[in-house]
Amino acid sequence: MDETADPVGRVLVAEDDLRRRVLELGAEITADYQGRTPLLVGVLKGAFMFMSDLARTIDLPVEFDFMAVSSYGNATKTSGVVRIVKDLDLELDGRDVILVEDIVDSGLTLKYLRNNLASRNPATLRVCALLAREKLKIDESELDYVGFRISSEFVVGYGLDAAEQFRQLPYICVYEGQQ
Ligand code: IMP
Ligand code: MG
Repeated sequence: MDETADPVGRVLVAEDDLRRRVLELGAEITADYQGRTPLLVGVLKGAFMFMSDLARTIDLPVEFDFMAVSSYGNATKTSGVVRIVKDLDLELDGRDVILVEDIVDSGLTLKYLRNNLASRNPATLRVCALLAREKLKIDESELDYVGFRISSEFVVGYGLDAAEQFRQLPYICVYEGQQ
């Protein structure tokens, strides 16, 4: 690769499309959780921008908590073995938990997190992912709300990074640099 070339390639999901889809997800969640106070659990750092926009489209009282995880091994390939770097502050017992993820790639991180959160006895547990790959290694039923389905290209922006860069982009682009 030409080292001087711009590693940020074409826009895959434009700002307007993100806004429109996030509004739809918020409306669905609002309808599904009437009379309840969902607890949004964001997975840091990738989900921070999505979660902040999503929360503003949910017309219900919501609460927030965050978890940070790191996967063992290669930074861009998940082994499915996850280490919790920052755990939740709140108890999940009896709560309506919505796990908010940036991207479900193989799905192994999600599988681990779902089992981990389920063991804390929430009343309900659902998953809201901004992006999901078309080919997952997990059962589709593990995903309740999905923003967009994307192919196998590595993407950055709107919270997603390549070596901590490009999270601030207000849209999602294909990344063409070194991973
Ligand atoms: P999984 O366990 O294979 O589903 O990996 C999920 C995690 O890998 C995501 O939460 C991201 O942190 C990271 N990831 C996977 N694909 C991408 C991508 O295209 N761009 C940025 N991060 C990604
Ligand atoms: Mg992540």
